[in-house]
Amino acid sequence: MSGVNEIRSTFLDYYKKNGHEVVASSPLVPRNDPTLMFTNAGMVQFKNVFTGLEQRPYSTAVTAQKCVRAGGKHNDLDNVGYTARHHTFFEMLGNFSFGDYFKERAIELAWNLITKEFGLARDRLLVTVYHTDDEAFDLWKKIAGLADEKIIRIPTSDNFWAMGDTGPCGPCSEIFYDHGDHIWGGPPGSPEEDGDRFIEIWNLVFMQYEQVTKEERVNLPRPSIDTGMGLERVAAVLQGQHDNYDIDLFRALIAASEEATGVKAEGERRASHRVIADHLRSSAFLIADGVLPSNEGRGYVLRRIMRRAMRHAQLLGARDSLMWKLLPALVQQMGRAYPELVRAEALISETLKLEETRFRKTLERGLGLLSDATTTLGQGDMLDGETAFKLYDTFGFPLDLTQDALRARGIGVDLSGFTDAMERQKAEARSHWAGSGDKATETIWFELKEKLGATEFLGYDTETAEGVVQAIVRDGKSVASAAAGETVQVVVNQTPFYGESGGQMGDAGVIASDTAKVAVADTQKKGEGLFVHVATVSDGTIAVGDAVALTVDHARRSRLRSNHSATHLLHEALREVLGTHVAQKGSLVAPERLRFDVSHPKPMSAEELKVVEDMANEIVLQNAPVTTRLMSVDDAIAEGAMALFGEKYGDEVRVVSMGRATHGPKSGKAYSVELCGGTHVGSTGEIGLVRVLSESAVGAGVRRIEAVTGDAARAYLSEQDERVKALAASLKVQPAEVLSRVEAMIDERRRLERELADAKRKLAMGGGQAGSADAVREVGGVKFLGKAISGVDPKDLKGLADDGKASLGSGVVALIGVSEDGKASAVVAVTEDLVGRFSAVDLARIASAALGGKGGGGRPDMAQAGGPDGSKAADAIDAVAAALNG
Ligand code: ALA
Repeated sequence: MSGVNEIRSTFLDYYKKNGHEVVASSPLVPRNDPTLMFTNAGMVQFKNVFTGLEQRPYSTAVTAQKCVRAGGKHNDLDNVGYTARHHTFFEMLGNFSFGDYFKERAIELAWNLITKEFGLARDRLLVTVYHTDDEAFDLWKKIAGLADEKIIRIPTSDNFWAMGDTGPCGPCSEIFYDHGDHIWGGPPGSPEEDGDRFIEIWNLVFMQYEQVTKEERVNLPRPSIDTGMGLERVAAVLQGQHDNYDIDLFRALIAASEEATGVKAEGERRASHRVIADHLRSSAFLIADGVLPSNEGRGYVLRRIMRRAMRHAQLLGARDSLMWKLLPALVQQMGRAYPELVRAEALISETLKLEETRFRKTLERGLGLLSDATTTLGQGDMLDGETAFKLYDTFGFPLDLTQDALRARGIGVDLSGFTDAMERQKAEARSHWAGSGDKATETIWFELKEKLGATEFLGYDTETAEGVVQAIVRDGKSVASAAAGETVQVVVNQTPFYGESGGQMGDAGVIASDTAKVAVADTQKKGEGLFVHVATVSDGTIAVGDAVALTVDHARRSRLRSNHSATHLLHEALREVLGTHVAQKGSLVAPERLRFDVSHPKPMSAEELKVVEDMANEIVLQNAPVTTRLMSVDDAIAEGAMALFGEKYGDEVRVVSMGRATHGPKSGKAYSVELCGGTHVGSTGEIGLVRVLSESAVGAGVRRIEAVTGDAARAYLSEQDERVKALAASLKVQPAEVLSRVEAMIDERRRLERELADAKRKLAMGGGQAGSADAVREVGGVKFLGKAISGVDPKDLKGLADDGKASLGSGVVALIGVSEDGKASAVVAVTEDLVGRFSAVDLARIASAALGGKGGGGRPDMAQAGGPDGSKAADAIDAVAAALNG
């Protein structure tokens, strides 16, 4: 008897031996399909390969694919726990041919596998074919030697498989296993077919068509093969079990919940153990693939699954949260085949624990309310919708949980009453926002949000996705389509584009349909939950309802990520260097740089900035993984996460941690822990380098840091480097010598300036003889040195006048400096012995008047004045001489 893990590898090895490429399971959140909630079959990842849109380097493949059927077209949630074969999560084994082999080889490979490798008894096997498919009928006869009555023609859609409303499809042929006449049931197509005796184990789809729209079906480029075998079903057959929950894997999971609760798996609580085992698998795998519990979209399906399991844990009498305790058993069973489970184990564990701890607070009270509301109800009665809605709205009971809780007593729920109550609440919310002063132009977003629901954001895990256009808004109004050249706002049901928030700018990129191309310049969040792409149609026409491929500008997003993560590192480093009073006052994460404002009362020194930068770079070099967890705000803050004071957070927050502290009280723990909804690098090394550009003041007590990272930091540094090299080249020294060379040049320049000033002075005063005869005359019995000079700084005039006085011994000096623009300054000096006779101030005023000016000032022995008209310098000297005479 083979365990699930051996069966899976036998299947993969068998097809590998037969030339198939072994391809890893794709994630549960489909990247290539806007219409699917979860990957629900092995062929989903190959959808575009079948239609010819995508090429792969192989033409045959084999997979073991993770599947979730809990929402959308294939939804098995309600039955899980009560039947032998329903699961929300299961594995589908499948082989694929993309235009390579077709029916004959597919049947041959399948038959050989189950009869030879798996060794199933031939007489237990029978098959169905689509009623008109004679070819398949004949092939089964020829290859398997099956008798005519064991090849059953089925005329219904049971034997025509389609992934969803659109996509590749085709007639199929199913292989059934007869569990024996001790179980009630008849072969497919018989009146007893719903019995449990004949169980389908494998579906071979002869992919021939593509359903393009509801009405239009076209041929695929080449006939292809898609098969799907439920691993749990075939394991049951191979392990001699009738019930999937009796296979080794489920037994191990159920044993873990028996052990943790002390409640036997058989008997009254059988269904609860099964629900828990099944839901543990879907929850864990969904979380590992990036889905986190929320109140919208995929996150809400996950929450429903988790809460349903949690009610059953409560039924088993578990006193504390239970689900996370069972996780190690799951990881042990499936971690080897799916390493993502091991990688995400901590995140899954924490998410399960958090959800269960939170839900427990209201679960008991909700169950109390439910029990009060149903005391008088019995088999066939209905719980009123109002109560079901109250359980949903106030106690966090998803509708299916309430239904599940009443199921055993045969009580239903009044669904239309539930919907009415929900509608009433929405109407009230509407009146609230209509009256809340939101501008009329913004109201459209609330209306759209209510109509469409929140946009599902996929951008934490992917930069490309497919979606369906839900609304196009032009000039504040909803329109059906937009043509080339128009700038509009586009809403898509799901998007990898980050909407601007928390300082991080919105993403840019491209939205493309078969017929149009739209350039997205920015993405904004509106109406509490809508992501709005601000975009210009560059080609064709885009319309509401179009399926589109969304591609985020990868290079730009990478830079945003680096800058955002670097902001966290700088924030922590600033707190360490400056003190814990440092709080974030504002942040802008742009692609080309980051800007971060913090409270700090004084400018930072160059030394402090350098230490901050070094610390951030130390964490970059650790190349430590960046982890994101979902937590309650209180827990996050208790763990030391930095939250923005006064910011409104939801019940649950994303907590981003990065790096390892190497010293101080946090040593060995995460370096930076912040509440943050932004996008971040996978590990700190991706930041490359952090370079602080500047530190400045932006207001009282607020400092601003600007910095660059990665390529931008490198570009900045190489620009600086080029500058130093160019400088060195023009100075004809090595770059390392630039500084000493420049210092030497500055000294030399000072010396030269001094010498030049001296020389000019000497020149001005007449070739070094300031008191030379030509400038000195006797006027009224005193020696008078009068001279007009140009090219001398006016502030040097006084020094020159002193020189003049010294050379005269006794006398009066009048110097008129004429500047380049023709203005004049005058300095008059009188030697000490003559101060009683002449006042320098009076004489300076006389000179000034001659120069067309007024006034003058100073001391009796030295005064200065000015005038606009330098051409009158000689007149001014004469006027002073005349005054001496007079
Ligand atoms: N795609 C087929 C199925 O899911 C094989 O049954």
